[in-house]
Amino acid sequence: MPQPASPDLKDFLRRLPKAELHLHIEGSLEPEQLFALAHRNGVPLAHASVEALRAAYAFHDLQSFLDIYYAGASVLRTELDFEELAMAYFARAAADGIVRAELFFDPQTHTIRGVPMGAVIEGLSRACRRAARKHGISADLILCFLRHLSEAEALQTLEDALPWRSHLIGVGLDSSERGHPPEKFARVFARAGELGLHRVAHAGEEGPPAYIESALDVLHAERIDHGVRCTESPELVRRLAAAGTPLTVCPLSNVKLCVFPDLASHNLPALLAAGLKVNLNSDDPAYFGGYLLDNWLGCFEALPLSRADAVTLARNSLEASFAPAAERQGWLAQLDIAATGR
Ligand code: ADE
Ligand code: ZN
Repeated sequence: MPQPASPDLKDFLRRLPKAELHLHIEGSLEPEQLFALAHRNGVPLAHASVEALRAAYAFHDLQSFLDIYYAGASVLRTELDFEELAMAYFARAAADGIVRAELFFDPQTHTIRGVPMGAVIEGLSRACRRAARKHGISADLILCFLRHLSEAEALQTLEDALPWRSHLIGVGLDSSERGHPPEKFARVFARAGELGLHRVAHAGEEGPPAYIESALDVLHAERIDHGVRCTESPELVRRLAAAGTPLTVCPLSNVKLCVFPDLASHNLPALLAAGLKVNLNSDDPAYFGGYLLDNWLGCFEALPLSRADAVTLARNSLEASFAPAAERQGWLAQLDIAATGR
């Protein structure tokens, strides 16, 4: 039975400096803000109230979530909308002890509706700068390609984003995984590599271990987003452990999307025991029942995890970030202090 975390444990987990490396900014759009933006922008909604919308957040797989998530994102239209969205996330991130955030965003979800690329990137980018000043959070942007669309569309999206190249640290791959293997995006990831962008990819969330292998071999992904299905291949687990490949794991997401029936069944302890560089993330917190600290608390209440595991998870997140080495070293020193409770 899950045991509620003691106030002392909760405080310890909150104080650990953490990086959030797997957060879709569109997935932090809370129903209240969604309704406010719909009203401001005159966008019609399928649900009559905040309560009715929240009640619709009952998903049976990734696709059933994505359908609602893309509909929700349709209220985002202006640069200010994107800036306000990200500022709301940063306020919650600061409260959870996040010192570094690498935000995924899906430009194709917006440009397809006529929203200019510049409105998306400049709004988010301004919020990243404000987050540093207001909350002391270091933040950067990772542009994700929608894998249910074609590689040609992804290539065009990357070219369209080039005027804002300096606002991006990397590219990612998300949306419907099954039937859309990483190799479909070989050329666009090669182009991103030429541009000096970091590369990450969702793989092994619903898709098989072979998708994790091709994300590494074909896309040259530096981190695997989710990756929880790697445990179906002991050989792959050994490879990921030997290479120290980070896995950005999202426990509440995995339960909401029925990858695991409940948190107590999550394979996080097995991933840690195998020596994998796992870190915890919230994925789409407005849809999955909680932000980063909620994910930590849920795991520590449901699973056999120690304070030493907590420090490992926080360290893994900081080490896996794409922040400059000097910044990472600073946070790791803060972590050492927080870990000893001094
Ligand atoms: N886009 C937003 N959340 C996602 C997830 N969990 N998997 C794939 N694509 C996503
Ligand atoms: Zn994700």
